[in-house]
Amino acid sequence: MSLLENIDKNNIPKHIAIIMDGNGRWAKKRNMPRTFGHKEGTKRVIEIVETSYKLGIKSLSLYAFSTENWKRPEEEISKLMELLVYYIRSQLKIIMKNNIKINVLGDISALPQFVQDEINTALSKTKDNDKMILNIGLNYGGRSEIVNATKLIHKDIESGKLKIEELDEEKFKDYLYTRYQDELDLLIRPSGELRVSNFLLYQLAYSEFWFSDVLWPDFDEEVLYEAIIDFQKRNRRFGGVNA
Ligand code: IPE
Ligand code: IPE
Ligand code: MG
Repeated sequence: MSLLENIDKNNIPKHIAIIMDGNGRWAKKRNMPRTFGHKEGTKRVIEIVETSYKLGIKSLSLYAFSTENWKRPEEEISKLMELLVYYIRSQLKIIMKNNIKINVLGDISALPQFVQDEINTALSKTKDNDKMILNIGLNYGGRSEIVNATKLIHKDIESGKLKIEELDEEKFKDYLYTRYQDELDLLIRPSGELRVSNFLLYQLAYSEFWFSDVLWPDFDEEVLYEAIIDFQKRNRRFGGVNA
């Protein structure tokens, strides 16, 4: 029996973020190179995107490469870039068919040109899709996003587009990579690590957190259902009191 039956279809989180972690450990357990884990992890991306879309999730944010991941060996980084291109190329048709819009979280200007080209094609092809937004964190860091937003705000104030009195917590969101999207309801981190590793720092102010020991290459749709079922049991007060 699938856990899908236990999900309340009227209380689906609008925005879910996942820190796709544990590929290296998954591979190590099998005496395989870390990159084998990344390859297997890419398959889970395909499945989880499809599951999220079917559930009616409005935004899915996947952490694929952080601003800190540049510290990794060069071969591993280039394999990750290759897999990203493979993912976009092989999935673009189905992404289009499912009316999914791709959005990048992060500064892609630091990525290799062939990767940027692939991403830009996907961005322009999917720009008018509106069933679900698939945010891909690439060279993403939460602190860097906030600094970047501050710079953009400064520019808009200088040019007169924005008045400093108009700037508040809501307005600030318009300068983040997730602009005009729903609040982040649920942050999921597999692999047993209990930290956010610089993901969506501004957005997670009132998110529910869900951690699991499952390694990303083992993260199937049932694990996602489990997270959502748990989320649906949470009592979200947002600082208030229960009615
Ligand atoms: C996550 O898996 C993938 C990326 C960070 C790109 P890891 O490569 O971090 O796997 P572990 O944490 O070493 O097991
Ligand atoms: C977070 O995982 C980044 C991504 C999943 C892309 P890491 O494996 O890089 O994070 P740490 O080093 O465990 O904090
Ligand atoms: Mg890791």
